[in-house]
Amino acid sequence: MIPFFDLTKQYESIKYEIDNATARVLKSGWFILGSEVQAFEKEFAEYIGVKFASGVGSGTEAIHIALLALGVGAGDEVITVPNTAVATVVAIEMTGARAVLCDVRPDSMLMDVEKLERAITPRTKAIVPVHLFGQSCDLDPILRIARTRRIFVLEDCAQAHGATYRGKRVGTFGDIAAFSFYPTKNLGAYGDGGAILTNDAALAERVNLLRQYGWRERYASDIKGMNSRLDELQAAILRVKLRLLDAWNAARRERAALYTELLRTITPPREMSYGQRVYHLYVVQSSKRDALIAHLKTRGIGTAIHYPQMIHRQAAYTNLGYGAGSLPIAEKLEREILSLPLYPELSLDDVRAVAQAVNEFA
Ligand SMILES: Cc1ncc(COP(=O)(O)O)c(C=O)c1O
Repeated sequence: MIPFFDLTKQYESIKYEIDNATARVLKSGWFILGSEVQAFEKEFAEYIGVKFASGVGSGTEAIHIALLALGVGAGDEVITVPNTAVATVVAIEMTGARAVLCDVRPDSMLMDVEKLERAITPRTKAIVPVHLFGQSCDLDPILRIARTRRIFVLEDCAQAHGATYRGKRVGTFGDIAAFSFYPTKNLGAYGDGGAILTNDAALAERVNLLRQYGWRERYASDIKGMNSRLDELQAAILRVKLRLLDAWNAARRERAALYTELLRTITPPREMSYGQRVYHLYVVQSSKRDALIAHLKTRGIGTAIHYPQMIHRQAAYTNLGYGAGSLPIAEKLEREILSLPLYPELSLDDVRAVAQAVNEFA
C-alpha cells in the first residue's frame, strides 16, 4: 500500500523537538499572541524575505484579511483563477467583492497573463495569482499590468512555501501575500494556521488590527476587525518545522525528478524556467485519468485530484456566471489532472513502484 499522503512519518522524525516545543507552550500558560507567535513571525518573514509577517487563523482568513487591509469590499472585482482551492474564492467573496476568473496556461496550469488583461475592468481592485502545486506564476507581466493600472496584487502562496521566481521567494513580489499552514502544506501546522506577509508597514499594521477586533490596545477597537489569530502551540510547532523546510522541499524535488525521469505514458508537470518549484503536489495529465486512478487503486496506490471541479463548475459558484466552455483550459485540466503521492518521507522505492504501475497502465 502506498497512501496518497502520510503525516505520521514526519511526526516520528521530529517527535523530540515537537514534544519539547508543545510542552514549553503548555507550561508557559500563554496560548494566544505571545512570544512563540512573535518569534515565528520574525523567522518566517526572514525566511521568505519580507519585513512583516502576521500569524492568522488559516490561509482562507489570511486572504480575507489581506484583501480587507488593501481596502477591497463591495462593488470591487478581484481577479483569480478557476483552478485553485475554493478557499481563494471564499475569501474574495467574504469581503463583499466579486470574484472574476481568468483562465490558466496549459503548460504551467497557472494564471494566463494574456487572459488577465481581458478580465480587467474599471472595478478591478486586486489580482490574486495563485502559485498552485508549488510553482510560481509568471509574476513580472502580472505585476507590470497591475502597476500600470494601480491594481493591487495579493500572492496566494498557500501551496508554495519556499518556491522561487527569478531567484527570490514567492510572497515577496506583490503588495501582500497569504500563506496557509494547513497540515498537509509544505510547511504545515498540527491544526489550522496562516500568515500574511508584506513589506508595507501601514498594511502590516492594518492586518494586525483586523486579526484581533481592530484593537490597538486591549478592549478598544479602532476599526472593525475579527478574531483570526495563529495560536502559540501552532507557532511553536511551525518554528521547529521551518528549520526543516528547505530540506523537505529538496526531498520533494528529488522525488519529483525521479517521477519525471521514469514516467513514460503521461504528461508530467512542467517546471517553468523562471523559478524553482517546491512540488506541493505532483500533478500529471492523462486523457484516461479515471481509468488510471482505478488501475492504481488495484495496486494499492492512493491518488487525488486537485481539484475535481473547477470553481465555476461547483454548485455554489454558478453565481459567478461562467458557463461550460467559458474557461476551456481549466475545464480540460479538470478532466485530465491527477496528483500522485509525493511528500518528503515517501521512499524512492515507493516512487519507483508508483511510476512502474503508471507505466504498466498504458
Ligand atoms: C491555493 C490555496 N489557497 C488558499 C488555501 C486556504 O488555506 P486554509 O486551508 O489554511 O484556509 C489553500 C489550502 O487549502 C490553498 O491550497
